[in-house]
Amino acid sequence: MKQASQFRTLKQQGIGISMLTCYDYPSAKIQDACGIDVVFVGDSLATNVLGYAHQNDLSLEEMRHHVRAVARGIERAYLLADIPYAVSYDLPTILDAAEQLQQDGVDGVKVEGFKPEVFQALARTGIDGWAHLGFTPQLIEKPAMQAKDSESADRLVTESRSLEAAGAVGIILELVPEAVAQRVSEALKIPVIGIGAGLLCDGQVQVWHDLIGLETHVYKHAFRQCDAHAEQMAAVQAYRKFVLRSSH
Ligand code: KIV
Repeated sequence: MKQASQFRTLKQQGIGISMLTCYDYPSAKIQDACGIDVVFVGDSLATNVLGYAHQNDLSLEEMRHHVRAVARGIERAYLLADIPYAVSYDLPTILDAAEQLQQDGVDGVKVEGFKPEVFQALARTGIDGWAHLGFTPQLIEKPAMQAKDSESADRLVTESRSLEAAGAVGIILELVPEAVAQRVSEALKIPVIGIGAGLLCDGQVQVWHDLIGLETHVYKHAFRQCDAHAEQMAAVQAYRKFVLRSSH
């Protein structure tokens, strides 16, 4: 079991925290070997890997199946998983899901939205709770920049402080202006990890498919490093051509 307190130390030292979504054993082995700090089984598993139309279609059983595969590929990284929307409707169900995911090997769970009572309860049971504010895909229909005016930016800072006080060990901030993410990061002792939130928070999270180019759509905030989609297409086409020519 890895400790989330290590990320507070990295934050104090000004060392960036790297987080990547991960959905399977071979990718987990790569991320772990490369020194990624937090390997994260996000509910984007639903759309990126399982072919569902929406991440809210994911069941707890599907999440657990993939968490166990990722856990088998990790030796040193911290393992985080989303609480799926399907089991996020009340506190006992969230706690039960968190305990099951903990049995599968996670070090912490992420819960979307402003729910201080959930973080208090998770802290009482000794499970690390990570919050997710700004654009929260489980709760907001269309991806859009959040906290754009001063009133909603102030609210975000206040809510982040309350979640820290409630026991959250870290916060993911998605699609908020860089200056707002910086304000939240400076207001908190726990790490603030951004996606589409500029570079002035304590770390970054990226979606694996966006990073390696498995997803053909390129998001503005994606840190795309290769074109795995094109490379896989080329490999399959080359194999097919080889078999066509060589078979009798
Ligand atoms: O599930 C997901 O991909 C996420 C992103 C914020 C990284 O929650």
